[in-house]
Amino acid sequence: MSDQKIEGWVAIAQSRAVRNKPLRVLVGGRAFVLFRADGKLHCLADICPHRSAPLSHGRVVDGAIECPYHGWRFDGAGACKAMPGLVGAIPRTLVPSYGVCEKDGLVFFSAHAVDAIPYTTVLAAADTVSMTVESRVTSSLAEVAENILDATHTHFTHRGILRGLSARRYRVTVTVTGGDGWVEARYVGEPKQEGLVSRLLEGERSISIGRFRYPGIAELEFWGAKSINLATTFHLRQETDDMVHGFGILSGPRQRNFGYLKALLFKPFFRIALRQDQHILHAAEKNRRLFGQRRPMIGPLDIMRPHIDAILSGQRPEVAEKPTILVMEL
Ligand code: FES
Ligand SMILES: [Fe+2]
Repeated sequence: MSDQKIEGWVAIAQSRAVRNKPLRVLVGGRAFVLFRADGKLHCLADICPHRSAPLSHGRVVDGAIECPYHGWRFDGAGACKAMPGLVGAIPRTLVPSYGVCEKDGLVFFSAHAVDAIPYTTVLAAADTVSMTVESRVTSSLAEVAENILDATHTHFTHRGILRGLSARRYRVTVTVTGGDGWVEARYVGEPKQEGLVSRLLEGERSISIGRFRYPGIAELEFWGAKSINLATTFHLRQETDDMVHGFGILSGPRQRNFGYLKALLFKPFFRIALRQDQHILHAAEKNRRLFGQRRPMIGPLDIMRPHIDAILSGQRPEVAEKPTILVMEL
């Protein structure tokens, strides 16, 4: 997927990762450089128009990024401001520049002009405790998004962490709905899960929701009687052909059973769960390559995947016209 095809904001870095040094980021196999100059964040194509050196290997001087090879300098708009040694006017030289903005600790990128403010997470309010983790996995965006939203793998991939050790399942009703650029599954009838994470964090659970949003957001909400107890929002992007990079924002209401201490306690478990997913996704991706990338089989419980695929290819998901309702044992 090239960035040219992606409309809207894509999370590409944590704000704190962009300090004095320029940062190279990959989006759909293309390289961009982020840097701060004149109190602003800028994003340029990470290639010097002179001899193609990566600008991200250079440094920021006098409000411009300096190429490490011959020292040409480019401002935030990509215009060349210095060619060391040149006597006289600088010929018009430009590096492509791109839109970036920051929200809730994340840097968002857009290849096209966008007016809207990027969506970060459902609980992005003042009375919320949130924490961000970052992770990479050898896979495709559709596979990773599906993995995050797939309730049927937790019994096996995350035994004991997200699920209890018992094989007990509960009958739940799942309603899948959607609209332009999104699809969601609502699970009703599932009691609080028995895994460590749920024990630590959640109160009583009424419903849970898994949602995918274009261009690469996979989020889970766990609702108590009236409000959300816990939400995790993953911002994913295809970095290269076979690598997905993601930022997971974990958040909960400050006043209820989610304080900084709990958030801190949760982090290692969150990481273990991520590692378990990374491991299986990596193995599956390697296997797909070995066997020659076959289309995935859509099993009867794979309620999200066809819609995620449709959304990623720019189509409206089928459930937008007609929601589906399914009973399954989770
Ligand atoms: S390659 Fe950048 S200044 Fe020469
Ligand atoms: Fe998982």
